[in-house]
Amino acid sequence: MPFDIARTRAAYPALAEGFVHLDGAGGTQTAAPVIDAVADAMRAAVGNRSAAFAPGRRSLEMVAAARAAVADLLGAQPDGVVLGPSATALTYSLARTLGAGWRPGDEVVLSRLDHDANVRPWVQAAEAAGATVRWAEFDRDTGELPVDRYADLLGERTRLVAVTAGSNAIGTVPDVAAIAKTAHAAGALVCVDGVHSVPHGPTDLAALGADFLVTSAYKWSGPHLAAMVAAPATWERLRPAKLLPSSDAVPDRFEYGTPSFPLLAGVAAAVDHLAGLDPSATGSRRERLRAGLAAAQAYEEALLDRLLAGLAALPAVRVLGSPARRCPTVSFRLAGLSPQRTQEELGAAGLCLSAGDYHAYEYFQAMGLRDSGGAVRASIYHYNTAEEVDRLLAELDRLAADGGRMTG
Ligand SMILES: Cc1ncc(COP(=O)(O)O)c(C=O)c1O
Repeated sequence: MPFDIARTRAAYPALAEGFVHLDGAGGTQTAAPVIDAVADAMRAAVGNRSAAFAPGRRSLEMVAAARAAVADLLGAQPDGVVLGPSATALTYSLARTLGAGWRPGDEVVLSRLDHDANVRPWVQAAEAAGATVRWAEFDRDTGELPVDRYADLLGERTRLVAVTAGSNAIGTVPDVAAIAKTAHAAGALVCVDGVHSVPHGPTDLAALGADFLVTSAYKWSGPHLAAMVAAPATWERLRPAKLLPSSDAVPDRFEYGTPSFPLLAGVAAAVDHLAGLDPSATGSRRERLRAGLAAAQAYEEALLDRLLAGLAALPAVRVLGSPARRCPTVSFRLAGLSPQRTQEELGAAGLCLSAGDYHAYEYFQAMGLRDSGGAVRASIYHYNTAEEVDRLLAELDRLAADGGRMTG
């Protein structure tokens, strides 16, 4: 059945303000059921986690519901879901924990396509342990991350491979399953950054071959919270730094302090919202998620094709990379105008796009574009429309025509 865009947009109250949000990669607008769930949880009597009294049981239930929801979203087990404030914080925690077991001469393999959240925590953990960082280079023209490069990078000292399932800079979807297979053959663990990929299609932890997979709910209509998933047995083997009196059970062992219970209610509501994206879908929540996200993916891909074709028709626009498999995310530069000026001009016309390096530090450094302002990013989400894509293209056309008069 065709994706019902009017129904979808009606679920996002913020869209009524009229901005064109082409920055899903920076964070999506929040779905109404999420807002309601957070508000309801804040209005309700909630105590800190305790089975002894009803408001305490309510917070226990909120934690359990958020874990169950994230598990359905990613094909994980609820006991393998660690919740935290951000993907960055969760990855730092994991890097410190794993890094404590590394020795001089051990190696980690990182990619220059990754957001810095899946780079710097590993670089710093490696430095602290005297381990060596080896880099998987992407193809500068296509933006692909060739799997065959990994064979040369991996060896018996490789402890960890960190790789993105979707580049937040240029959208590349690397063949993570093949990379993970090579990594596992060398005995290494695999940490996959799913922050940019998870909002754009069905995700399955086992199919990716990830030992650890991280996602952020604010990139898929939810609140500013994140989750890292792994098999419970994988978490069981790890000993993070933790408070003595806090629970040593998995996954609580990896969670610091008292969580934001209302935002956890929002995470569960966001997953339910995604599971309803295809109203004709039936079955378990996991099955409805697969159907809803696949429908949204097909819709987003049509918009991406329209955007890419439109950009290709503008001679003043240079699009970075041309990966075969990609999330609906495109970085570009406009001749004669810095990314920041382009962003401001678009912003003045009501279009919200990111500019700079969006923390994809290594990518822009490798491309030699960091010092000149990075790029502008158009990132499509399932509430965007063909008209919005056309508005962006028309604005860029206008800016290109004005380019002679504007500089900087
Ligand atoms: C691909 C990717 N990884 C990691 C992050 C960091 O996520 P968080 O803000 O939850 O730390 C982002 C944020 O933009 C991202 O796009």
